[in-house]
Amino acid sequence: MRLDQFIAKHTEYSQQTARLLIAAGRVQINQQTARDGQQNIDRFTTVQLDDRLLQQQTALYFMLYKPGGYLSATRDPVHTTVTELFTEPLRQHLHIAGRLDRSTTGLLVLTNDGLWSRRLTEPGRRIPKVYLVSTAEPIAEHAAAYFERGIHLAREGVDTSPAQLQLLSPCQARLTIHEGRHHQVKRMFHAVGNRVVALHRESMGDITLDTSLVPGEYRPLSAPEVDSVRR
Ligand code: URA
Repeated sequence: MRLDQFIAKHTEYSQQTARLLIAAGRVQINQQTARDGQQNIDRFTTVQLDDRLLQQQTALYFMLYKPGGYLSATRDPVHTTVTELFTEPLRQHLHIAGRLDRSTTGLLVLTNDGLWSRRLTEPGRRIPKVYLVSTAEPIAEHAAAYFERGIHLAREGVDTSPAQLQLLSPCQARLTIHEGRHHQVKRMFHAVGNRVVALHRESMGDITLDTSLVPGEYRPLSAPEVDSVRR
């Protein structure tokens, strides 16, 4: 929404008067005097008219080391959810950017910025997600080539996009995928006759799970981590 429209919506003034107020230097945007009534206001822009605060909402971005057994949901009647690991006022504002299965551990990103989380998770942006995978059986030699070519997912009627498999030991590998379909990693290993017994997400794009966090701990994302998603 444009600044003059925003002022008209949140005060008793018309859009025309709003433009005069802006020209008179009475409107502040993020603590700077506004000059342009056409400038765009989003829900994280702080807007002040004289000493009246019209909007102030802080954008929140966190990484959580998700422990196993927690549901990637904001509330659930049965299972403990990941948002319960956050303190009370924070908890109500956050949503999850890229869910993990209940048993999966590792990097989970939470935010109150819907535009930003869509950018992180949109399949079209092909942001790489890196997983550490432990399997029940030794990983077949042909698995890497299969994953690179794409596995057919019958339910969606689509092929997975090329994924990179790095073998770490007979039953352990690092897998990079570029989309986030339901149970994708487990279904990919199932397609090559294997079974995932442990799954851990290490990174999403330039956001890597902080090694100083222990399961259940979280920290705010740094400015470069937040900006990496906007690029
Ligand atoms: N793929 C899965 O199968 N499970 C997850 O939690 C994440 C990716």
